[in-house]
Amino acid sequence: MKKILITGGTGYIGSHTVVELQQKGYEVIIIDNLSNSSESVVDSIAQITGIKPTFKKIDLTDSKATAAFFEKYKQIDGVIHFAAFKAVGESVENPLKYYHNNLFSLINLLDCMKKNQINNIVFSSSCTVYGEPDSLPVTEKASIKKALSPYGNTKQICEEIITDTTKTSSLQSILLRYFNPIGAHSSALIGELPLGIPNNLIPYITQTAIGKRSILNVYGNDYPTPDGTCLRDYLHVVDLAKAHVIAIDRLLENKNKSALEVFNLGTGNGFSVLEVIKTFEKVSGVKLNYKIVERRAGDVSQIFSDCELANKELGWKAKLGLDEMLSSSWKWENYINKTTK
Ligand code: UD1
Repeated sequence: MKKILITGGTGYIGSHTVVELQQKGYEVIIIDNLSNSSESVVDSIAQITGIKPTFKKIDLTDSKATAAFFEKYKQIDGVIHFAAFKAVGESVENPLKYYHNNLFSLINLLDCMKKNQINNIVFSSSCTVYGEPDSLPVTEKASIKKALSPYGNTKQICEEIITDTTKTSSLQSILLRYFNPIGAHSSALIGELPLGIPNNLIPYITQTAIGKRSILNVYGNDYPTPDGTCLRDYLHVVDLAKAHVIAIDRLLENKNKSALEVFNLGTGNGFSVLEVIKTFEKVSGVKLNYKIVERRAGDVSQIFSDCELANKELGWKAKLGLDEMLSSSWKWENYINKTTK
């Protein structure tokens, strides 16, 4: 049984990936510092798959603890690295927190992988590296623009660190650039658990619908888009998780075409904020209280993916549509609301 280390495995995308890996027969070890997640996610994963993954509470910025972990768990076949801070606004207010955490975590991880001859890494990157794109849909060949936030900059720098390390070692790497992952597992046992007031659209919508927030602010309706609100390429987190299994399989089976590969992961469709709201109202049967407010600083007006490469090379295509994404988010919100009352 191949052993995969998932950093950030109790987080949103990490936990869904653990489930998919276990269901494909992989043995999974999770490390997470629980800064934005809870250990109870490990039990929820076990409830879904019937297998409890090994869990170690480790902060990857702690180089001694990280080295000690690798000393103990030498036989790891590959790593999927999710562990990172991801709130765009917070990164603008506290850039050092983001540079310190996101960069040192990766550096310590790569150091330990090198020392222990672990040569396969899949990295959780983002379409944020493209900034405001020159043309749509965005392919992997699009230029990398100056990042709009320290968070975005950490994704760009991490990609560069992995690229440079891959060139000078036996590391084999796949960078996955996600568009906007939303939704939750069909069991509603795992999903996105934002701490405090959510920054992202979907948790804000579901929390407004359930009555935790009074009103949803729609940031701007004067963008050059059909209805004036921003367009994004939303994709179901379960589709995204499955892409990670394919990527790690590809590395372990030496099917990669070069030591470093980059893939966009999205659906290729752009939906506006108002279209998302309408679809949510349709699938939930709840009328949403919202108002149009000023634009949010740093938002790009529209971005959606060209996923031909992932389709051709990985044989991956997002299967679930916006209705399924939003109905699963709504089911998850109802579950959290019931269990935390
Ligand atoms: C951002 C990052 C992305 C990161 C993700 C997770 C950029 C360009 N993108 O995505 O890399 O992975 O956050 O943190 O940095 N909106 C509202 N009202 C709200 C919230 C959002 O109208 O209360 C709108 C936004 O203006 C945007 C859309 O909804 O047009 C999606 O926003 P959000 O869910 O925050 O994701 P991004 O900003 O696209």
